[in-house]
Amino acid sequence: MPKHLRSLQEFTKTELIGFIDRAIVLKKEQKAGKIHRQLDGKTIGLIFEKPSTRTRVSFESAMYGLGGQVIFLSSRDTQLARSEPLKDMSRVMSRYVDGMVVRTFGQAVVDELADYATVPVINALTNRHHPCQVLSDMMTVIEKKGALEDLHIAWVGDGNNMANSWIQAAAVMGFQLTLACPEGYDPNSEIFAAAREIATKPITLVRDPQEAVRAADVIKVDVWASMGMEGEEEERLRVFSDYQLNSELLAKAPAECIVLHCLPAHRDEEITDEVLESEQCVAFDQAENKMHIHKAILEGLIV
Ligand code: CP
Ligand code: NVA
Repeated sequence: MPKHLRSLQEFTKTELIGFIDRAIVLKKEQKAGKIHRQLDGKTIGLIFEKPSTRTRVSFESAMYGLGGQVIFLSSRDTQLARSEPLKDMSRVMSRYVDGMVVRTFGQAVVDELADYATVPVINALTNRHHPCQVLSDMMTVIEKKGALEDLHIAWVGDGNNMANSWIQAAAVMGFQLTLACPEGYDPNSEIFAAAREIATKPITLVRDPQEAVRAADVIKVDVWASMGMEGEEEERLRVFSDYQLNSELLAKAPAECIVLHCLPAHRDEEITDEVLESEQCVAFDQAENKMHIHKAILEGLIV
């Protein structure tokens, strides 16, 4: 049976740390000029039903950087748009490629592809989870601040796919997480409850962003309207107006606190241009680390 990456909760702490440690080594080796060829002769298919800059390019670059090949398929390139059953698509793709990296709307799509695949299926973002992004976020935090277990992470904004994956990460890895979300925009309640059952440190939901950041080592923000929610943009601008990460809110956090944003950012909505461009913000290191963590994931899952 192939090992899939549908969400972070399917992995142990040792396995997640394994990806991060390996990504840190691969990053060092690449910067030292070492040529990697572990995936020579292997091919992955990228099936993307939503737009992407970072995840697409960093997965492609990671695969080529390990000596492998990539086939990119947008929704208009496959028979999925014409309702070919997922179980057929998955079994056919499994005959052609050594792994599938999937960005789509419903988590059920990734789950069904994985159920029928004989090669690993990697979740590159659904409405429910964005596990690979949170792995590169955690790698960045470890590089900048050290062991996650000693840190307090604050999430400010929408209880979206990224928030859900951070909640699972906090439970598996054992760090403190405080989320500040407006009422009606909470993270998924089942994910939250399941995470709290296994968590060794507090995972807390509050309404006040100042309360969330007060003791934070890391503040993480994301767009207020995720892909597929474009019709709600106006309403969300109103609802989230008190949740902007600006210099006033950042000043409530400890001075050494760092800021994460998975990008793309809507400047002067969820984060001000000033904070995004400040020394405290590590968004571009995070973006780079996507490529290194994707190498570790591909190397770890594709055999
Ligand atoms: N952070 C991230 O997933 O960016 P893309 O949507 O550009 O892939
Ligand atoms: N929550 C965002 C993340 C983008 C990388 C979205 O789903 O659009």
